[in-house]
Amino acid sequence: MVSFAPYFKGLRLAREDLVSPRSMPQMRGVMPEHVISEPVVIALDGPAASGKGTLAKAIAEHYGFAYLDTGSLYRGVAYLLLRAGADPANAAAAEVAARAFSLEAVEGADIRTREVGAAASVVAAQPAVRQALLDFQRDFARRPPRGAKGAVLDGRDIGTVVCPGATVKFFVMASPAVRAHRRFLELKAARPDLSEADVLADLEERDARDAARADAPMARAEDAELLDTTHLTIEAAFAAARRVIDGVVRRCED
Ligand code: CDP
Repeated sequence: MVSFAPYFKGLRLAREDLVSPRSMPQMRGVMPEHVISEPVVIALDGPAASGKGTLAKAIAEHYGFAYLDTGSLYRGVAYLLLRAGADPANAAAAEVAARAFSLEAVEGADIRTREVGAAASVVAAQPAVRQALLDFQRDFARRPPRGAKGAVLDGRDIGTVVCPGATVKFFVMASPAVRAHRRFLELKAARPDLSEADVLADLEERDARDAARADAPMARAEDAELLDTTHLTIEAAFAAARRVIDGVVRRCED
């Protein structure tokens, strides 16, 4: 088993300079070369609007890691299909769109709408779409952009399928009512006609589809830490996540 102990010692030495590859020379000599090349991967999975995206961003910022919102890939593919007037359930069209997909293609587009969310979970159930997006996600984790020494990925299958060997895994959840309220607050400015009951129905339909699909269903990995954010502020959820991550660091150092 690869030990992260020397890596984390180096990480602590380089704490002030986590984002920058400039910190790497400080770590050379502290740890073997093969360990330096192994980035830390933090995986966060969970149902819609559970708070995993907010948490993932805060973790990435704190540790200086790169962040990938994997839902934006499925949302992006769905957005392009809807814009082209194609049916997201059309497997052939969805596969073509997924194979050709790049994040640049949807830059500036509003992919956070409820329609795109619903279509994303339809395209995400198709194995060819998941396969087409898998390499990009794994490459991101293996070689985080801009020389970052770690990557944070959030989604539904990160701890189970995309990065089963992730350094730390979380399954982030919250009660359906709290999740619907949070998502309602995000969407209501653009959609004053939307009710909280509509949002709750959307989330429940999407969660059921995401959990029931045959290929890479939303699931808590056996070794994922369960984080229930129902009664937690963002700060409290972040503090809880940090305790877990720092605990792994300490265990690795012992
Ligand atoms: O932000 P929210 O929690 O509403 O969803 P998202 O993370 O943007 O994901 C949108 C949809 O993409 C989900 O409902 C899933 O169907 C799909 N998805 C997936 O299947 N696997 C992932 N790793 C990420 C998202």
